[in-house]
Amino acid sequence: MTIAEIFETMEYGPAPEAIGPVEAWLDAHGRAFGPFIGGQLASGEAAVHEGAEGFETRNPATTEPLARIRQCGAEEVDAAVAAARAALPGWQGLGGHGRARHLYAIARAVQKRARLLAVLETLDNGKPIRETRDLDVPLVARHFYHHAGWAQLLESELPGWAPVGVCGQVIPWNFPLLMLAWKIAPALACGNTVVLKPAEYTPLTAMAFAEICVDVGLPPGVVNLVTGDGRTGELLVRHPRVDKVAFTGSTEVGRLIRAATAGSGKKLSLELGGKSPFVVFDDADLDGAVEGVVDAIWFNQGEVCCAGSRLLVHEGVAEAMYEKLRARMETLRVGDPTDKAIDIGAIVAPVQLERIEGLVRRGVEEGATLWQPSWSCPRDGWFYPPTLFTGVAPAATIAQEEIFGPVLVAMTFRTPEEAVALANNTRYGLAASVWTENLNLALDVAARVVAGTVWINCTNQFDAASGFGGYRESGFGREGGREGLFEYLQPAWRARAKAEKEQGPRAARGDRDAAQADLGAAAPAAAEPAADSPAGPAPLPPIDRTAKMYVGGKQARPDGGYSLRVLGPRGELVGEVGAGNRKDVRNAVAAARKAQPKWGKASAHLRAQVLFYVAENLAARGDEFARRLTAMTGASAAAARREVDLAVERLFLHAGRADKYAGTVQATPIRNFTFAVHEPVGTIGIVCPDAAPLLALCSALAPAVAMGNAVVVVPSQRHPLAATDLYQVLDTSDVPGGVVNVVTGERAALAETLAAHDDLDAVWCFGAAADCAAVERASTGNLKRTWCDGGIARDWSDPEQGAGEEFLRQAVQVKNIWVPFGEGL
Ligand code: NAI
Repeated sequence: MTIAEIFETMEYGPAPEAIGPVEAWLDAHGRAFGPFIGGQLASGEAAVHEGAEGFETRNPATTEPLARIRQCGAEEVDAAVAAARAALPGWQGLGGHGRARHLYAIARAVQKRARLLAVLETLDNGKPIRETRDLDVPLVARHFYHHAGWAQLLESELPGWAPVGVCGQVIPWNFPLLMLAWKIAPALACGNTVVLKPAEYTPLTAMAFAEICVDVGLPPGVVNLVTGDGRTGELLVRHPRVDKVAFTGSTEVGRLIRAATAGSGKKLSLELGGKSPFVVFDDADLDGAVEGVVDAIWFNQGEVCCAGSRLLVHEGVAEAMYEKLRARMETLRVGDPTDKAIDIGAIVAPVQLERIEGLVRRGVEEGATLWQPSWSCPRDGWFYPPTLFTGVAPAATIAQEEIFGPVLVAMTFRTPEEAVALANNTRYGLAASVWTENLNLALDVAARVVAGTVWINCTNQFDAASGFGGYRESGFGREGGREGLFEYLQPAWRARAKAEKEQGPRAARGDRDAAQADLGAAAPAAAEPAADSPAGPAPLPPIDRTAKMYVGGKQARPDGGYSLRVLGPRGELVGEVGAGNRKDVRNAVAAARKAQPKWGKASAHLRAQVLFYVAENLAARGDEFARRLTAMTGASAAAARREVDLAVERLFLHAGRADKYAGTVQATPIRNFTFAVHEPVGTIGIVCPDAAPLLALCSALAPAVAMGNAVVVVPSQRHPLAATDLYQVLDTSDVPGGVVNVVTGERAALAETLAAHDDLDAVWCFGAAADCAAVERASTGNLKRTWCDGGIARDWSDPEQGAGEEFLRQAVQVKNIWVPFGEGL
């Protein structure tokens, strides 16, 4: 070929990356790997001894086997968890600076071995070397650096928080080493130890990471790895000595893990699937948007949880956009991922390829128009061409199901309203990308799209300083940023209470009774109303009055027509409340859902004003509330009064916080603002304890409402009248109807009904362990967020336990909005 011809065709020459060093590394390990436990990596014969179950990991670009991998069973999982537990005290004893040094050492070692890790990842996963070299591995290092910083800062930045303990982590195959870093770095920074299971298709970079741990002198047992498929993962997440489970993978498995961990007291974060919209308005830079699409859906073969897999285009520019896209797709290069000039590598495994092919067939059957480039893919590996579907109906399978391959489905819209409606027409909520030159429009859409990350005029930007995670069925919890740390921390008081509970149930119970007695709660043998009562002896309330429930700003009779007797400390009747049932819950949730959007959009100033007003009106009726508490619980008049005063103070506290917890700007590396915006979760069910019936109710309700949520409250079952009295206060305090709803009745049944309701976004349960377990189990339907005390009673009068930052964090979800800027100045 002459130079003139080359100039004409601009053909790529081969640009192979040398794979020799990786082959040598595999050979040095006998091409066999097993678990990494207590600082010992099983490789070679130790990994695949006689009789050990195992499987092969293959190079997706050639289908050749790379290494044999041990299928770890209960014995290895037990040993790994034991090693992690044994390492905990030493690791925590190192302190923040000690841990920071280790994380820094890991970051440096990753950088020094960057090329080996990149090539190994490419061989094992099939993704292009360009991506592993320029994105995966640098981000892995960045994650360890960032969290070395957090380890150093933790004690000063997050006082009052403690590590969770042993973390069981299960990761997928699409970003094997990066997901490992996302899981391990924050866990270690916060003082936890880990057992991680890499995905069965891509375990090799985790093995190389084990070597790094040994080489940098990480204390044995701080990081452990168990190899195997979903069975090993299940053993790990179910293990009784694991305190926290973190999972990234499919929504189906996420659901199974939610169910498997329900009631176990394990903390859980789930990063699941997505069907993220890529919205292009008619004033967008279309050429820029086309390159954006390339990065959105053909990056990593489309095997990306936040891939911009649904292209939504303004009708007027749709044909022009498709034309440009087809032209660009024609120039994409699919092939040997170790070639540095390849755009799209191989699909990880035949099963994934079949899934993609199956869904594409379905798309054609359902009437969408398929387009693929004229060239064909190599046949010696598991390759799939970039694919565009146009004319896709919003309800079509390919518009709703996660394909996890290089397949883009395109739809059009006419107005911004329609764009937002289409964007949100999914059960997922992981990410979105918005393209327009109109900043007003971009930010307006960003605020209305239901997604954990929104990229404006960019896509697939990731950084350790920015939290990543989903809304709705894309899971809960965040990875990265300050918010990601909370997944690996628990309030220090809770850590102490758990330790006491483990040491001896009697001691813990003693504490709880003391706390309840102090707050005049469920202490049946309470004393006579004390003589120190400023209000004098408590008059008995009229017994013929049945307090109604409170739904949509109106009093509501129970659907079933039954009521429950409310008894005082000596078993005397002090009133009756409605026995709420499923239908009452349904009505209350519908009212909350209807009220929430407006309340969520109301200014924080307005929400603060309303809460101040509630506090004012509660204070004005303080004597009456105190008498009611005494009548219900038998608390002394002074204790009851203290509870009312503290409830007023809590309302003030959250009124004060309403306009001061809006989010932050994250320091991510590209030239942009990354706003971490605190958005309301939406509708929240709150199940109250019997302890401190008024204070607990106000302490939970106030932060939820302050942050813009609408709530359905199930008050204390034993002492519900504090809540039914409170709604009269709400009525006179400008709380819009439906923002707070009260359903009285049997707590366990109502809690479970709330948890199973698909129109609630979260349930908080401050009840008995059994209620919490039932809530977690029933929450799998829409994978709602749950916040359960798991039977560990709070002292509601304590500022940390009754009003710590945890309440605010649970009341918001973080949306990260990336807004790049620059005119080349
Ligand atoms: P998967 O969710 O089955 O696997 C992810 C990880 O979970 C792997 O390590 C696997 O061994 C483990 N696992 C499987 N069953 C488990 C169980 N019962 N308990 C504990 N751990 C378990 O995902 P898979 O089968 O690899 O891919 C299937 C589909 O899931 C893909 O086509 C894609 O749509 C989606 N997916 C989504 C990912 C994401 O990041 N959102 C990542 C990988 C897959």
